[in-house]
Amino acid sequence: MEKSIWRKKPMSAYEADIKNNQLKRVMGKWTLTAIGIGGIIGGGIFVLTGTAAHYHAGPALALSFVVAGIGCVFAALCYSEFASMLPVEGSAYAYAYGTIGELFAWIIGWGLILEYAMGAMTVAVSWSGYFNKLLHLFGITIPYYLTNDPFSAASYAAANNLEPAAFSFNLPAFLITWLVTWILVKGIKEAANTNNIIVVLKLAAILFVIIVGAYFVNFDNWRPFIPAPEMVAHADGTSQEAYGIRGILSGAAAIFFAYIGFDVVSTSAGEAINPKKDVPFAIIASLLICTVLYILVSLVLTGMMNYKDITGDALKAPVAYAFDKVGQPWAVFIITTAATVGLVSVMLVMMLGQTRVFLGMAKDGLLPNFFKQIHPKLQTPWKSTILVGLVVSLVASFTPIGVLSDMTSFGTLFAFAMVCLAVLILRLREPNRERPFKTPMLMIIAPLGIITNFALMYLLSGKAQLYAIVWMALGLVVYFIYSQNKSNLNNMKED
Ligand code: ALA
Repeated sequence: MEKSIWRKKPMSAYEADIKNNQLKRVMGKWTLTAIGIGGIIGGGIFVLTGTAAHYHAGPALALSFVVAGIGCVFAALCYSEFASMLPVEGSAYAYAYGTIGELFAWIIGWGLILEYAMGAMTVAVSWSGYFNKLLHLFGITIPYYLTNDPFSAASYAAANNLEPAAFSFNLPAFLITWLVTWILVKGIKEAANTNNIIVVLKLAAILFVIIVGAYFVNFDNWRPFIPAPEMVAHADGTSQEAYGIRGILSGAAAIFFAYIGFDVVSTSAGEAINPKKDVPFAIIASLLICTVLYILVSLVLTGMMNYKDITGDALKAPVAYAFDKVGQPWAVFIITTAATVGLVSVMLVMMLGQTRVFLGMAKDGLLPNFFKQIHPKLQTPWKSTILVGLVVSLVASFTPIGVLSDMTSFGTLFAFAMVCLAVLILRLREPNRERPFKTPMLMIIAPLGIITNFALMYLLSGKAQLYAIVWMALGLVVYFIYSQNKSNLNNMKED
């Protein structure tokens, strides 16, 4: 095939990939749903809710969750149609390769690194924070130079008039990444079982927050439900218009991170027993379950505590703080434990997704063979998993990555918008192709998905947008220097 950036992977090549699958097919529909929930419920719901209520939406935070949830549902429906037609590992990347063209697919795959690998790095840093908090509850303190990257440790030392440490790194973030890597290398069954257990614990904790929290709701805190727009000062001295309809929308962008994860189900198609049916089911089921839970948690939080009072320490752990404030400090222990354990499965799912996307890209020749080597006994892409573990652990423990979590949202929203576009293109181009799952009203859902996801990208912080664009530009360089020349399509005849 000619080296055009628009060349597409033929459907026959996907069928061959599915036939030659070397991964272990062990996951049924509920295990896949648990993968989705495992990826979705993490630090986002326990942390971002405070910022979004105070600086953006007020009690209408629940509506921000509805808006972001709707954006995700559009994407989830489009993902589902694709996953039912092309049950391969590469997810959004693979879907775009068959429909839009190679360069686009590459850029989406490259963008997914922001979602999965970078997501895992930021979650590793949050995990370390929660783990420390948990140790604190037991009266144990790890020295600051072992819980912070060198840059954050230097700022901490300066702010607290301490002697700067000669060496510092985030030890808990480093160790948790290697634990997760080890589970993923050992086997998909082990990883899925670990995830299942964590998901049960997470759901129990969220239900606990909703049921016990509902008891302490003061309806006055919900009045007015959508406060009138006003300027609110931020910690960095700037101020921004908050509340009203605009506040609901910017709140949706601020909490979008909490929804990330359901799409990983589509990267697990190679390990699903019945991918054509079960992957679409799991994508939609996990998203709907979490959307309902998130709306309820946000109602409870803004009912327990007035959004105006969510400042200072309350912003760091708003849900736990709200329970403390209503005289239930023991709840802090439950929430901190749930978040600490829960974040492990978010990392597990993100790193699983990353290695499966790399696998798909390597199978197409766009990445080196290293990424597609499957362990003969364990049946996992072990080399790539270890490499991802190495990079995630080093970046999480040595750089201040935590501040860049918005970039994860950027990469995800970009992939979501592209999946909506790709599914629309394929429906128009090949309307008669067999579709075990067909997105209802696609001609409306897909354009709405594209618009919503681009709008949320626009609402993210300027810094995240700039860094993400630089990252995408770097991807273009890699494509033209390496991937375009190595693509399998170079040796394939036109259809
Ligand atoms: N949705 C995941 C979380 O909130 C990434 O931690």
